[in-house]
Amino acid sequence: MKWKELYNEKKVTATEAILKITSNSRIVTSHACAEPKFLFETLIQNKEKFENLEIVHMVAMGNADYVNGEDMSPHFRHNALFAGASTRKAVQSGIADFTTCYFHEVPKLFKEDFLTVDTVLIQTSPPDEHGNCSMGISIDYIKAATEKASLVIAQVNEHMPRTMGDSFIHVSDIDYIVEHSEHLIELNPPKIGEIEKAIGKNCASLVEDGSTLQLGIGAIPDAALLFLTEKKDLGIHSEMISDGVLELVKLGVINNRKKTLHKDKMIVTFVMGTKALYDYVDNNPMVEFHPVDYVNNPSIIGKNDKLISINSCVQLDLTGQVCSESIGYKQISGVGGQVDFVRGASLSNGGKSIIAIPSTAARGKVSRIVSVLDEGAIVTTSRNDVDYIVTEYGIIRLKGQTLKERGRLLISISHPNFREELIEKWEERYNSTYTNLSK
Ligand code: COA
Repeated sequence: MKWKELYNEKKVTATEAILKITSNSRIVTSHACAEPKFLFETLIQNKEKFENLEIVHMVAMGNADYVNGEDMSPHFRHNALFAGASTRKAVQSGIADFTTCYFHEVPKLFKEDFLTVDTVLIQTSPPDEHGNCSMGISIDYIKAATEKASLVIAQVNEHMPRTMGDSFIHVSDIDYIVEHSEHLIELNPPKIGEIEKAIGKNCASLVEDGSTLQLGIGAIPDAALLFLTEKKDLGIHSEMISDGVLELVKLGVINNRKKTLHKDKMIVTFVMGTKALYDYVDNNPMVEFHPVDYVNNPSIIGKNDKLISINSCVQLDLTGQVCSESIGYKQISGVGGQVDFVRGASLSNGGKSIIAIPSTAARGKVSRIVSVLDEGAIVTTSRNDVDYIVTEYGIIRLKGQTLKERGRLLISISHPNFREELIEKWEERYNSTYTNLSK
């Protein structure tokens, strides 16, 4: 049968599609800004028809009505691979479960049946002339999930960019098609203050011409981009990008010309931003989307010479243990791709992994650099993996340093209000007298 006939045969209403799902099963969905909002709304509207449906996804950018509001527990249970703004409370209170996993290994959870997949909900672009729909702005784990699912439901949305790379699913691999166009979820650029600018400037000073960048989410990576306008021939190999890169692309600073892997192409696994970013990646062969087990695989990342990764954290102890995902016991995000890129940068010739943080949090009340991590804090990046640390007070490098020296270096870039206390703890710990680095 020709694909167009197949497509028409598979077209149903959202309710018809959602009612094909059976109770006591697992649903895996596209995440972040690719979340199929209309399919979720229809699922919630029909909640009485379902019992014990497990909903698995990574970054939550939508309303997450299946865990918020009235009691959804007889109908839905969320299993989070990352705690996002709308799912954080549910994860912290135990209403939702949390499964921890390096981002590059999430496809493996599905491929090797650690998490069996019953249904997949995706959002795609309309098919091209060959019947290929693009899964758009989030490819990451969803391709692996569609390959394992017994039921694949696609919301076909004209606003979903037709992204290039390993991002396509053929109409013949979809079971039910729901045509519904709506604007995608957008992420507005973060506010960049003076502290973020100082940190961004320090990060940018570590970036040599011809480097390939991975940028985490938030104000600090975007602030670093502000200070890269005079650099030459930068490339991107990043789990994600947001609007911050567009200016450098326009200026010709990011041209991917010197990349040692995928020369001339930007490589990502998902994007989150505004319509300007979505328009940029639409039908653009210069930006390739690939599954996360490829993009975030440390050995693939390491094939990029001069790979610079820039990520952030919540707390860092004086030996270099990095907590990036919890405040004490409270899970606020997840490991995501942080460790994938810290390790990838370490494998890269001339690579540098940077953890960049404001020296304090909670409006200056607490130091992010602490003598010991808070009780319950999770070590996201081990002290054996960590390398450069940047605050608004400077840049240090921890690789090859003794524990004592690590402490000294970290204190030197901590906020002055907390240094005395940190020195006291350092002296207690090492039964030694602290001397300044300058001595
Ligand atoms: N003690 C108390 N509160 C703290 C704290 C600390 N040590 N550190 C942070 N907080 C608070 C902040 O004050 C802020 O509170 P607010 O929302 O009330 O202002 C909140 O926690 C979020 O912290 P902030 O540092 O502003 O968050 P961010 O948006 O810059 O994100 C991470 C930082 C570390 C949470 C984020 O980078 C992350 O999730 N990293 C792990 C995953 C990752 O690195 N992926 C890489 C590729 S995308």
